[in-house]
Amino acid sequence: MCGIYGITSKKIISNKLFNGLKKLEYRGYDSSGIAGLSQGNKNLVIKSTGPINHLKKKLKTIANISTGIAHTRWATHGEPLLKNTHPHNSGIIDIVHNGIIENYEDIKLYLIKKKYAFKSDTDSEVIAHLINYNYNKCKDMRSALIKSVKILEGSYAIGAINSDLPDKLFAASNGSPLIIAKGTNENYIASDISPVLKDTQKYLTLGDGEFAELSPEKVIIFDKKNKYLIKKVITTSLKDRQVSLAGHKHFMHKEIYEQKAILNEMMSRYVGQASLLPNIFGPNTDRILSKIKHIHFVACGTSYHASLVAKDWIEQHSTITCTAEVASEYKYKKINILPDTLFVCISQSGETADTISSLKKAKRLGYKDTLAICNVAESTLTRLSNLVFLMNAGPEISVASTKAFTSQLFSLLLLSIIVSRSTEESEKKMVSDMKQLDKIINSVYKLESEIKKISSKFKNKDHTLFLGKGGTYPIALEGALKLKEISYIHASAYHSGELKHGPLALVDKKMPVVCFLPDNHLAKLVLSNLAEVEARQGQTFIFTNKKIPRKNKQVEIIKMPDCPDLIVPILYIIPAQLLSYHVALKKKTDVDKPRNLAKSVTVE
Ligand code: F6R
Repeated sequence: MCGIYGITSKKIISNKLFNGLKKLEYRGYDSSGIAGLSQGNKNLVIKSTGPINHLKKKLKTIANISTGIAHTRWATHGEPLLKNTHPHNSGIIDIVHNGIIENYEDIKLYLIKKKYAFKSDTDSEVIAHLINYNYNKCKDMRSALIKSVKILEGSYAIGAINSDLPDKLFAASNGSPLIIAKGTNENYIASDISPVLKDTQKYLTLGDGEFAELSPEKVIIFDKKNKYLIKKVITTSLKDRQVSLAGHKHFMHKEIYEQKAILNEMMSRYVGQASLLPNIFGPNTDRILSKIKHIHFVACGTSYHASLVAKDWIEQHSTITCTAEVASEYKYKKINILPDTLFVCISQSGETADTISSLKKAKRLGYKDTLAICNVAESTLTRLSNLVFLMNAGPEISVASTKAFTSQLFSLLLLSIIVSRSTEESEKKMVSDMKQLDKIINSVYKLESEIKKISSKFKNKDHTLFLGKGGTYPIALEGALKLKEISYIHASAYHSGELKHGPLALVDKKMPVVCFLPDNHLAKLVLSNLAEVEARQGQTFIFTNKKIPRKNKQVEIIKMPDCPDLIVPILYIIPAQLLSYHVALKKKTDVDKPRNLAKSVTVE
């Protein structure tokens, strides 16, 4: 996925465009560029590969622009080279694009026949030439845009400028997010609200098949028939400081620490004295959910790990059967649906392409209900699902997900309680366990300095193993994913009982083995699995509240607080997040923007 930002203003906007684009850098950081117009000038363009800061030196080239489009790229078609960097130009037209044009090769052949010369390997460049071709025929930018996108297959959010119309900014959207924000004497297009928050809280979402024409004073939304549309303007409660570092060195660190307040806030919003508040998943949902016999969870990455925890919670506390599938598999599988099955998709962004197509498939298959658990209110997933639960964790900027994971877990714990409660007593017990979170979470944060020390033992490693059992197996998966993502150390997660079936062959005195060991009915079994590691002199890092002796220097025990089993997954992931953060700091990687990744993956 990529980030798009555009402004049309009565003032000079080059610095504002650059600073706003930086807010979208989490969406892609392979290369970036800006194209702008100033009265009487031709299109001015600057481009750079690598982080957006590389553009700064070139800003003086576009010093006088008052209308412009900017783009930060996560490469899909074509390497991250300058020639593939957006904006793409075709004479008087410049465009930026997020999404995939599936039929770009056919369009390219057609345009080559019409004597258009291509400079990039991207799918996006066809859009610039296509608009140019259609504009030259009709000299009307709105009609040119409508005609052009009619031919495009795939998903797109497009921003376009035309040097014949120096104060105009155009946009089109289909299956890729784009908002239109309204300011004072200037208006904006953006992939999300973060770049405009300094100037305005007012925005609308451009829907599929919709277009926008913006000037500093006016926003016009129109459809494929060039008919004006009246759209509801939303006022967000988000403030610019919520997308700032607020004194932390990295967004990841800030977001790890935000988890306490978010969970607390969710607790007060949804949990009463001894029971959950009614219908927290929407009107009538208590009745709907009480009839559910099976649940199919679908998600990707971290969100998928959250679904594994939910599966464990629900199966432990009810007779409901659950499956948890990664969305990229679910889409292509034959799915058997028994009566009274609920489909649940989980996504921080609500824009993950695989999860969206899984939800579309689920709707075709005819589940009893579909529920989307999501962090972004105005997202594709929330628009498509019939039941929606918003986590309200605030924007997650760090590419490595942390606060979204624990918010997903909390949301799923609410769901687990609703579908599992059989008596008032059973609900009361689960609610009382859940309520201990707020108190206990502080002692987990206090482990940071100890975790920082042990992180140096990972710095020079190439491989690690993560172990868990029962509810901590998904935590081992998520802990390993965090370490891989931001420190680039290979990490594999296993059920601790699986060690002896293969992975034990990897263990020698150089191999770090991280283990999550809450003192519960499974602890003894995990301890005997750890003994297998210690017998091969593996280095163990054990997160536990069990009293176990530190037999030798190869064993590190990180003392976790006592806590009810129900909240173990939420508490045990936090030290794992901190561990990967500190290992990444020691390895001097780009913590918030790990290589090759982007925040939400809008391509399948
Ligand atoms: C890992 C991470 C990814 C996402 C995955 C799904 O830190 O962030 O694995 O969890 O791409 O994204 P969403 O939740 O937005 O659907």
